[in-house]
Amino acid sequence: MNIIITGASRGIGRGVASIFSENTDNKIIIISRNKAKLEELQRVCFEKNQDSTVIPIPFDLEAIYEKGKELIERIAAHMDHIDILINNAGFIKNVPFEQTTKEDARKIVIVNFLAPAHLIKLLLPLMGTPRSSHVVNISSMGGFQGSAKYSGISYYSASKAAIANLTECLAVELSEKLISFNCLALGAVQTEMLEEAFPGYIAPLSTHHMAEFVVDFAIKGNKYFNGKIIPVSTSTP
Ligand SMILES: NC(=O)c1ccc[n+]([C@@H]2O[C@H](COP(=O)([O-])OP(=O)(O)OC[C@H]3O[C@@H](n4cnc5c(N)ncnc54)[C@H](OP(=O)(O)O)[C@@H]3O)[C@@H](O)[C@H]2O)c1
Repeated sequence: MNIIITGASRGIGRGVASIFSENTDNKIIIISRNKAKLEELQRVCFEKNQDSTVIPIPFDLEAIYEKGKELIERIAAHMDHIDILINNAGFIKNVPFEQTTKEDARKIVIVNFLAPAHLIKLLLPLMGTPRSSHVVNISSMGGFQGSAKYSGISYYSASKAAIANLTECLAVELSEKLISFNCLALGAVQTEMLEEAFPGYIAPLSTHHMAEFVVDFAIKGNKYFNGKIIPVSTSTP
C-alpha cells in the first residue's frame, strides 16, 4: 500500500510509520519539519526491515498554501496513487483563552485544520477512483461534541472539532470518488505533546498501543465506516 503520514517525526505518527514499515508491501512517505528525525526514523525502520520503503519529506505544514504544489510534486515522484493518508500532525499550546496571541491562534488553526484540509484537496488527483483510498484525520476528544472540556486548550479543541466536522462533510461531498474519510478523536496518549501541554499527566495509553490501533483502523476501518467521528477513549465523554 502507498501511505502518507504527517507528523511522523515523533509520537503517534512515528509509531504508526514504524508499524507500517514492518510490511515490505508498504511504501510510506513520512512528513514533518524535522529532517534529521525523519531520517533517523527511516534508519530505524530499515534496521528492523531491510526491505522497508520509508521516504522522508521534510515540510512545514504552515507553508501549505505557498509551497503545497512542491510537496505534491515530491509525493507524486514516489506514488501515483495513495491508499492511506493519515493527517496526524498537530500543534497544541496550553494557554488561557484571554492570553492566546494572534500568532498562537493562527498556528493552531493552520496545523490542525487548514493544512490537513488543503493537503486533502491537493492530493485528490492521487486518491480514489479507480482504487479506493482512506483518509484518516486525527482529532481529539477535546474536539468531540459533548466530551469533557479543559481550560487552556480552547483553540486547540475547536480546531480539532473543525477537522472532525470536515471529515463528515467530505465523505458526502466527495462520495463519488471512492475515497473514505474518517476521523479518530483520540483520548490522552503518553507522548511528548501530552507531556508538554500537561506536564506530569499520566495517560492510560502508550504511544505504541495507540499507533497499533491507528494502523489497524487505517487499513480496515473504511470497510465499516465512512464520514464517521470515532472517539478512541476508554472514558465516557
Ligand atoms: N497525545 C495525546 O494525548 C493526543 C490526544 C488527542 C489527540 N492527539 C493528536 O494526535 C496527533 C499526534 O499527537 P502526538 O501526541 O503524537 O504529538 P507530537 O508528539 O507533538 O507530534 C506531533 C507531530 O506533528 C508534527 N508537526 C507539528 N507541527 C508541524 C508542522 N507545522 N508541519 C509539519 N509537521 C508538524 C511534529 O513534527 P515536527 O516538529 O518535526 O514538525 C510531530 O511529528 C496530533 O494531531 C494530536 O493533536 C494527541
